[in-house]
Amino acid sequence: MDRRSVLAGAVGSAAVAAWGGGVAEAVDTAGAGGRRLLGPDGRPDWGAVRAQFRLDPAWVHLATFYLASQPRAVRAAVDHLARQLDADPMLVPTKLSLPDGPTDWDRVRKSLAGYLGGEAEHIALAASTTIGLGLVYNGVRVRPGQEFLLSEDDHTVHQGAARLAAEKHGARVRLVPWFADSGEATAEEVVSAVRAQLRPTTRVLGVTWVQSRTGVRMPVEAVAEVVREANRGRAEADRCLLVVDGVHGLAAVDADAARLGADVVVAGTHKWLLGPRGTALVWLAPHALAQVRPTFASFMGDDGAAPLSPGGFLAYEHAFALPVSVAFHQALGRSRVAGRIAELSTRAKEGLARIPGVRLHTPVAPGMSAGITCFSVRDLPGSAVVERAAARKVRLSSLYHDSLGYARIGTGVMNSPRDVDVALRVVRDIAG
Ligand SMILES: Cc1ncc(COP(=O)(O)O)c(C=O)c1O
Repeated sequence: MDRRSVLAGAVGSAAVAAWGGGVAEAVDTAGAGGRRLLGPDGRPDWGAVRAQFRLDPAWVHLATFYLASQPRAVRAAVDHLARQLDADPMLVPTKLSLPDGPTDWDRVRKSLAGYLGGEAEHIALAASTTIGLGLVYNGVRVRPGQEFLLSEDDHTVHQGAARLAAEKHGARVRLVPWFADSGEATAEEVVSAVRAQLRPTTRVLGVTWVQSRTGVRMPVEAVAEVVREANRGRAEADRCLLVVDGVHGLAAVDADAARLGADVVVAGTHKWLLGPRGTALVWLAPHALAQVRPTFASFMGDDGAAPLSPGGFLAYEHAFALPVSVAFHQALGRSRVAGRIAELSTRAKEGLARIPGVRLHTPVAPGMSAGITCFSVRDLPGSAVVERAAARKVRLSSLYHDSLGYARIGTGVMNSPRDVDVALRVVRDIAG
């Protein structure tokens, strides 16, 4: 028995036993009482999926996209790694194992690449979407006089990353609207607004795959086409790069993030992907690699995007457990996950639309929305709706730092139609 096997044996036989058949088998059978994730027909058993989460059963949780509650298999993986680190910190960073075999940055990047439909070498890792966006905007080669073009509806950390980098590099930030009314937004409207706003000096167009402020899912592929047209004939240093804040699209929308046509996709993996907290990815198209310089010294190596990953000793027990979150989603199936999320948010939208005094701010069309449904109740601020729902043990959310601050229902794989119906009853009472 080598040293690593001895250690694995010492870290808890229960966790290891659960992993006998590898990660895929482990996530499938990690449910309470051995209940499998997939039913006999091969489809997800959503009750078994829910049973994997330690969410307080006294509450209805419709805000889990804020920060992931982790499925059981992911918690077991984090725990397994933490025990090894506590037993011998010198195992960092190349000698740590999941119960089915070694795990390290390479394994993490490969598993994410498989999920994104891209290449491992094009992925950098960070601790949050915020840090990933900061790395990209701070690192992008930009000249004084060039601009970063974003919208008023992008998250404050995305705008902030652009603003801080622009101040440093003599560039400017321009915020524009992509639609007149988020609830009525269409792909055509967004595309023509982008076409009208791009300038020869636009060095980065920053968009959000699924906006947390409005729930609007941006038509990224169509926007990428507009950027491609605008770039025709431009020199490399003048090309507009399409940077996507993908945090609410990744693992909520059934699409290969690496094939959207973007130059860069940044996404926290601790929201819809249900990964360990403090994890995120930055994917770069091969031709964009030379356009973004590292901000920090990296410990990850020299290949492709690796040097963009901030170095230092990190929460390895979290980062190195990410392949298990990916396996969890792959076991369920990306299209089934996205389908379930869409089905539940459609139920929420249809129900909200029937409540007098409630206004929907997210498009009803499934192609223009994903798992976040924004709404307002009469003239109440969103935070007041959230508080009143919380008094009835229903967890909603709002953007507390935002003047718009709509109330939001977020539907994930841990939710059921009943959860949505309970929330709708509560909203009806608040509006009544
Ligand atoms: C659209 C969007 N981008 C970025 C962030 C920040 O994400 P993180 O917590 O991973 O930095 C959020 C926060 O929820 C968000 O809604």
